[in-house]
Amino acid sequence: MRAINLNGFGGPEVMQWGAAPDPAPGPGEVLIDVAAAGVNRADMLQRQGFYPAPPGASETLGLECSGVIAALGAGVRDWRIGDRVCALLAGGGYAERVVVPAGQVLAVPDELDLVAAAALPEVAATVWSNLVDTAGLHAGQLLLIHGGGSGIGSHAIQVARALGARVAVTAGSAEKLARCAELGAQILINYREEDFVARIAEERSGSGGFGADVILDVMGGSYLARNVEALAPHGRLVVIGMQGGVTGELNIGALLRKWGSVHATNVRNRPNTGAGSKAEIVGELRRRMWPMLAEGIVAPVVGAELPITEAAAAHRMLEDSKVFGKVLLRVE
Ligand SMILES: NC(=O)c1ccc[n+]([C@@H]2O[C@H](COP(=O)([O-])OP(=O)(O)OC[C@H]3O[C@@H](n4cnc5c(N)ncnc54)[C@H](OP(=O)(O)O)[C@@H]3O)[C@@H](O)[C@H]2O)c1
Repeated sequence: MRAINLNGFGGPEVMQWGAAPDPAPGPGEVLIDVAAAGVNRADMLQRQGFYPAPPGASETLGLECSGVIAALGAGVRDWRIGDRVCALLAGGGYAERVVVPAGQVLAVPDELDLVAAAALPEVAATVWSNLVDTAGLHAGQLLLIHGGGSGIGSHAIQVARALGARVAVTAGSAEKLARCAELGAQILINYREEDFVARIAEERSGSGGFGADVILDVMGGSYLARNVEALAPHGRLVVIGMQGGVTGELNIGALLRKWGSVHATNVRNRPNTGAGSKAEIVGELRRRMWPMLAEGIVAPVVGAELPITEAAAAHRMLEDSKVFGKVLLRVE
């Protein structure tokens, strides 16, 4: 088969489309003929040599894909050859074929475009596991999403609104904020022009105080202190990205006075099965989020779609923050 191979670590130009070993499904795995792969910020870090694949995972980039099942490993009962699916991967999506444990596969509803479905697995797993499982977000609470125009943010807005939460977002331009509003965000903060702490401090939380009940953060260190300030009583800060660095100062006194908590999680390094695993999250998505997709309450937000041979251009788009929503690579 062909795949994106890395010619060393570095800029987007190290990615080259060429021959790669054909994967074969082991017991409990399925082989997918890839229709499209989603691009994630983590792919950029892996390409630069800063985010190696977990032990045993494919070293090819790609944390999510859509496609058609081409072969079944021993013991797989829930899927058939020819099924339209998308899948949460630990790697290997930037390729014509990928193998994945059957528990990380989701059916693509008939009404959903197969290529667009590649925009879902990684954002859906990240958003659901953090907002629902970790932060316990529920109806009437105020959620602040940093980077509302990102792949993660554009999905989180829709899910949070479907759960009945009020949604505030930060973004770096009026255009992105307007798109966030179309998806249901009610409080729009341009982080280049406005202090999000001051703005959120004016808003009533679900607990009757002021501030955000939950913050979904992609900045990490540089926003830690301000995020804690913006929390409401009983607030939960969930850090999923480190675009602002890995260290910051935590004022425990400020957190303690609010009975607050700080969490940090990732999806890729979770085990395949068992408590807190990828299969557990995907199972939750299947039961609780996939019906929202079938009803059209939540939809993939695709900002750009490129042939996989143009993976370098796709990475540059994400790095330059040019896109609203997800960037996809079509495999032709
Ligand atoms: N932990 C996990 O399991 C997990 C899984 C998936 C993704 N992530 C993380 O989630 C983040 C989003 O991922 P993605 O693939 O959706 O990336 P993306 O589409 O490239 O989004 C990056 C976002 O960061 C925003 N941003 C940059 N500086 C900001 C600031 N000072 N304040 C607020 N927002 C700022 C950008 O906003 P503007 O474009 O408006 O400037 C942009 O929306 C990344 O940090 C990624 O590593 C974590």
